[in-house]
Amino acid sequence: MKPTLTDLPSWSALEAHAKHIIPLHMRDMFANDPERFKRFFTEAAGIKLDYSKNRISAETKSLLVNLAREANLPEKIEAMFQGKAINTTEKRPALHIALRNLANDPIEVDGKDIMPDVRDALQQMDQFVWRIHSAQWRGFSNKPFTDIISIGIGGSFLGPKLVSASLKPYWNNTLNCHYVANIDGSHITEVLKHVNPETTLFIIQSKSFGTQETLENTKVARSWFLRNGGNLETIAKHFVAVTANTQSAIEFGIQEENIFPMWDWVGGRYSLWSAIGLPIALTIGMDGFKALLSGAHAMDNHFRTAPLEENLPVIQGLLGIWYGNFLGADSHAILPYDHYLRGLPAHIQQLDMESNGKSVDLDGDETDYTTGPIIWGGAGANGQHAYHQLLHQGTRLSPADFIIPLQSHNPVATHHAILFANCLSQTQALMQGKTEQEAKQELLDKGLSHEDANTLAPHKVIAGNKPSNTILFDKATPRTVGALIAMYEHKVYVQGAIWNINSFDQWGVELGKQLGNEILHKLLDEPSNKQLDASTEGLIDLYSTYGTS
Ligand code: F6P
Repeated sequence: MKPTLTDLPSWSALEAHAKHIIPLHMRDMFANDPERFKRFFTEAAGIKLDYSKNRISAETKSLLVNLAREANLPEKIEAMFQGKAINTTEKRPALHIALRNLANDPIEVDGKDIMPDVRDALQQMDQFVWRIHSAQWRGFSNKPFTDIISIGIGGSFLGPKLVSASLKPYWNNTLNCHYVANIDGSHITEVLKHVNPETTLFIIQSKSFGTQETLENTKVARSWFLRNGGNLETIAKHFVAVTANTQSAIEFGIQEENIFPMWDWVGGRYSLWSAIGLPIALTIGMDGFKALLSGAHAMDNHFRTAPLEENLPVIQGLLGIWYGNFLGADSHAILPYDHYLRGLPAHIQQLDMESNGKSVDLDGDETDYTTGPIIWGGAGANGQHAYHQLLHQGTRLSPADFIIPLQSHNPVATHHAILFANCLSQTQALMQGKTEQEAKQELLDKGLSHEDANTLAPHKVIAGNKPSNTILFDKATPRTVGALIAMYEHKVYVQGAIWNINSFDQWGVELGKQLGNEILHKLLDEPSNKQLDASTEGLIDLYSTYGTS
């Protein structure tokens, strides 16, 4: 048997240490250490992280850092930055950091510096954005564009959608931005209802240019365009594509000069920094897009050079490992207390779960430890009136990130102070909880009898000791949003590197696609001899009897 992560001395040390930490309450940890906030606070690239409300001591942190070292994390971080083929199953590097490498230091893939291609693509974006904004590039009836529709799914959708929504205060207000991802025809139908074909630009976003949902939605968009005043010649004015598969895009009918590049060394879920970010650049302008890249670049520099003990993504990755592998948590909540950032949980969900939802290590051997957590979440404050109940009193442990800007883009009345108070009070309540004694006293103070107070008190007990991080920044600007997303990308890499898994492939999603094709043949009454399982055949029969295409 080859030695695995669980054979490392630091792993056993952490297992033993967890037994000491589990009975301790964070209330007491705070009471016993007035320096705790300062001890467990760090910042970089405009992002501040308070991780003092975690079930850790200084010893926990140092044992986790030992684990990172024994698992060769520093070498693995360097391997990513140097363009080593860390995506081992696809024999490729994962070089999203090159897309925001504003220092322009050469980065080689197969002996060739890729930075000139990255710069050319940025230049191509710059030109395009300028032509659209200055109305040099117009629609078929010579009117300037009013709407862009980005058609793509997964990484070709979630990242740009999150960032363009996060940066709404920076929109230039001449263009509306819409996204179509779902193969449910209702999505594109609803979007097309509200736009004018004369002034609508479609951006087809697909690294592979082979994704069924994207291609089918593009066909619908194209026929809608042709039915509503456009023609084969004017398609070139209204359809552009971003892809690593230029040939298929051309065969599909996109003009070569309207194709923006992608490369196989960028993973889909890490691609918002490439031309996949065109909807972002069109809505906030190229300067804003470059500021986004600069925020991510600042986080990259921090990640590459800061000591592990002060390294934001490393600390966050290690905390996740602590809870997942040693304290039994199997999920992690992302709770943005910022209306504009409400799409963050969906993006991080894909980023984390598609990257680290793996159960074999780099050698293809099944791991004897758990890997990526279930990521969930939603807009802060709203969640307090919904699922936070489970965080406070449920039986499951779900560490949570509370993400909040210090300043609001919209200082309405005292809203931001109230929002801030809500955010802090949630982390405080999760940490300290309420004892039975306190619950009973509160009830007595309200005038309840001893008997009623005794009956009710157990229901009002809140165990506390529930971990959270508080992540702050001055304001959701292009730069801070860039740094924030890059921080999560690197957190995911830290965990994948320590778990010794490949965070950059996603073979698991392929089986559903293969099976979907077989089922589609049957639904469309095309010849198929394949007998499927009874449940699937039964459901196909139901569709054949009652369904519509
Ligand atoms: O099916 C998953 C996936 O491959 C994601 O990883 C990717 O972001 C998405 O599909 C879309 O792929 P593409 O950009 O090639 O259309």
